[in-house]
Amino acid sequence: MSSETLANLLREERRFEPPAVLAANANATTADHERAAADRLGFWAEQARRLSWAVEPTETLDWSNPPFAKWFADGKLNVAYNCVDRHVENGLGDRVAIHFEGEPGDSRSITYAQLKDEVSQAANALLELGVRKGDRVAVYLPMIAEAVVAMLACARIGATHSVVFGGFSSDAVASRIQDAQAKLVITADGGYRRGKPSALKPAIDEALTKVEGVDHVLVIRRTEQEIPWTEGRDVWWHEITARQSTEHTPEAHEAEHPLFILYTSGTTGKPKGILHTSGGYLTQTSYTHHAVFDLKPETDVYWCTADIGWVTGHSYIVYGPLSNGATQVIYEGTPDTPHQGRFWEIVQKYGVTILYTAPTAIRTFMKWGDDIPAKFDLSSLRVLGSVGEPINPEAWIWYREHIGGGKCPIVDTWWQTETGAVMISPLPGVTETKPGSAQRALPGIAATVVDDEANEVPNGSGGYLVLTEPWPSMLRTIWGDDQRYIDTYWSRFQGRYFAGDGAKKDEDGDIWLLGRVDDVMLVSGHNISTTEVESALVGHPSVAESAVVGAADVTTGQAIVAFVILRGGVTESPELVEELRAHVGRTLGPIAKPKQIKVVGELPKTRSGKIMRRLLRDIAEGREVGDTTTLADSSVMNLIQLSNTGSR
Ligand code: WT7
Repeated sequence: MSSETLANLLREERRFEPPAVLAANANATTADHERAAADRLGFWAEQARRLSWAVEPTETLDWSNPPFAKWFADGKLNVAYNCVDRHVENGLGDRVAIHFEGEPGDSRSITYAQLKDEVSQAANALLELGVRKGDRVAVYLPMIAEAVVAMLACARIGATHSVVFGGFSSDAVASRIQDAQAKLVITADGGYRRGKPSALKPAIDEALTKVEGVDHVLVIRRTEQEIPWTEGRDVWWHEITARQSTEHTPEAHEAEHPLFILYTSGTTGKPKGILHTSGGYLTQTSYTHHAVFDLKPETDVYWCTADIGWVTGHSYIVYGPLSNGATQVIYEGTPDTPHQGRFWEIVQKYGVTILYTAPTAIRTFMKWGDDIPAKFDLSSLRVLGSVGEPINPEAWIWYREHIGGGKCPIVDTWWQTETGAVMISPLPGVTETKPGSAQRALPGIAATVVDDEANEVPNGSGGYLVLTEPWPSMLRTIWGDDQRYIDTYWSRFQGRYFAGDGAKKDEDGDIWLLGRVDDVMLVSGHNISTTEVESALVGHPSVAESAVVGAADVTTGQAIVAFVILRGGVTESPELVEELRAHVGRTLGPIAKPKQIKVVGELPKTRSGKIMRRLLRDIAEGREVGDTTTLADSSVMNLIQLSNTGSR
């Protein structure tokens, strides 16, 4: 975020009272914060009772071996039973769980009773294919209802799912399958994106030439396009599930049984497999979905526009909403297919009441024009959510006015893959909102801002966001690497979780998030590490060295800007730059493609050889270059600036 945006943020003085109608009947109350502050563990024990336990936990938190937490450790439950069966047993089998809207316009509504049958059949199919409790299953799917069924089927039998975003390349899938040692992969022939079928299965075929240990590939038929087929290994989902019983008795798993692994970018190249477990995770996703979105499952129609491949999809499409018996919309495609009003058409069609989306999408809609949402009836909306990166006040106000009709509270929810569920957010009906601020830690959550020496900063000052107490949906470790878990999150500030975000407390003590302080970029709300993109670039035969920075971008929050030094004998050309962008796309996936690549003769380095990204960011954002005194060679910046002007 540029310093100008930051200054604007902190000058923001608009305030919005919670609407009276909503406040009168809100799930959250003004007393919740105080109640949780008085007895934090008691508060979470009470939230755990939102769930159905096969064995009720008597213990809330075991923090005897920090930072390795155990929540509700002596309890047992089945996560899928909590998300599906119990609603059917409670007489809600006819309630729609999922309104699926395909990009080409096909749609299907699935009730909780039907979902129970489909999840049971899929669970039986996984068992037939030899998957057992504790095995890992990789999931690589488009945004179709079967993705939810697949995840729940894994949870049901105690297999740990590792969902890999469908936009990732075969290399990225291969390394994730390898790291998790997945035994089975669930994929689809393809999905619809931007008006045409886009293939998925070939990426799996390619990934499996590089990794071993995968016995079967379960393939969902979505696009019916031609795909390669390996006899004996590949199995059609529709064929194997059709012959399974719709009955499957859910076994109770330990509260700390691994529910899923989800990979996120680290500051060093290797992605981190974030491990989440069952009881604590479901408790917090369920509670936060209820309180932060004010969900009324009988009447609300909820829509989270995230992809299932990100944590937002895990927590706020699958586990939070379904554990609460919500009716929700799942949309397969892009927001501008076949026209730029597609989202608003969907809100109108299903009467969506709660919408959860990302600042990057909101800024795109702003760019497309006010007249587009104005053509649709959005009056059903009553709560709006934002997630993924700081939302600038202008986008917040636009969202409120043009989507929320000036009447819906906006919940700006701060959290991470690692936190598993929302941690800092206004509560609808309770909080007087401030455009651009996530404001206050939720009841039961302890967050603050500290300076370099770990001292809590006074109101009106900035520093680093830390979490000071363990929380139920916290990551339990990095898969296979306890030491990296300790080093990454618990070593910067003794005994506190370091989130990697800069933050400021305003005069009221409310928290404003200011973006990442480490080498992770946030592009359209997606976490991409500078190191990963750099490694991809130097993996190309023409590149000798590279340095990557995230530069402020009006639409995507940050955009990837790469500086590269070419190998001797290679000459710069527009074609080469295009080829390098495509190369990164192929290696890491299209979202990691640099927006700009600048060919330079040198890179700015400290005497110890560390690239000074701060200086490159100054160039990328068109600023005066800052302090260069720690550079090994201070003339380097002049050279880079010269070649930079030359390339425009
Ligand atoms: C990073 C985590 C949480 C699901 C999506 C991203 C940034 C997230 C906000 C917000 C300011 C935010 C942070 C965080 N972030 N939400 N409301 N305001 N920043 O999950 O990929 O793990 O990324 O996203 O920088 O650390 P993720």
